[in-house]
Amino acid sequence: MQFVLFGPPGAGKGTQAKFLSEELNVPHISTGDILRENVKKGTALGLKAKSYMDKGELVPDNLLIDLIKDRLSQPDCRKGFLLDGFPRTIPQAEALDEILDDINKNLDGVINIDVGSGELVRRLSGRRICRSCGASYHVVFNPPKAKDICDACGGELYQRADDQEAAIKNRLNVYVRQTQPVLEYYKKKNILIDIDGEKEIDEVTADIRSMLADMA
Ligand code: AP5
Ligand code: MG
Ligand code: ZN
Repeated sequence: MQFVLFGPPGAGKGTQAKFLSEELNVPHISTGDILRENVKKGTALGLKAKSYMDKGELVPDNLLIDLIKDRLSQPDCRKGFLLDGFPRTIPQAEALDEILDDINKNLDGVINIDVGSGELVRRLSGRRICRSCGASYHVVFNPPKAKDICDACGGELYQRADDQEAAIKNRLNVYVRQTQPVLEYYKKKNILIDIDGEKEIDEVTADIRSMLADMA
């Protein structure tokens, strides 16, 4: 199956993707994670992307479209995939349709995790990420058992560079201006599924699970 996890910065895409990719048995493809990996390794893509990411701007479409085209052609995507953070512009959504056409696949659904802006700021400013496995925590809403240590793998937790107040504000503005219009694109195709993302993490998971059961 092929799904997109959609939603504003801090909605819980990465948090829900962990369980969902296991449940569907498909790879979790987070463009943000892939870009951060490239920045860390200092690749050509990472060098181009870094300044946009630090400010909370979108990285240019052509770079993201090439990245996704390449990733979706890997053998592990034959059984399906879960996209997190792509597409986030109309040109990206159109490019994805072309890529899917070429590999004879369709999107089964676009899961929109809906959260208001006040809650997003609270979530992003308290977020901590595991350096080793990428798991997301929150100092209040989802704290690790031991401070700054990942429950899952023992890795060190850190705060993302773009989780500073100025970058958070910019990311939320960029979402409204450039990414929100993509919702309409999928609504017209009748594959948009709205999920209330303001509930507790486990409740959101349960809602997504029952949505999947309804589809089966
Ligand atoms: P990306 O990494 O995709 O960041 P984002 O969209 O800003 O989303 P986040 O990862 O911040 O939020 P999330 O929804 O995954 O939330 P999480 O689960 O962590 O992109 C980063 C940058 O890369 C972009 O700004 C851009 O520069 C570039 N980029 C990436 N893709 C691109 C593209 N396609 N085109 C162009 N540029 C691109 O949860 C957040 C926090 O809330 C955590 O602390 C978590 O514990 C907590 N939490 C989660 N759910 C709940 C809940 N239900 N209740 C309480 N707390 C919760
Ligand atoms: Mg994320
Ligand atoms: Zn970890």
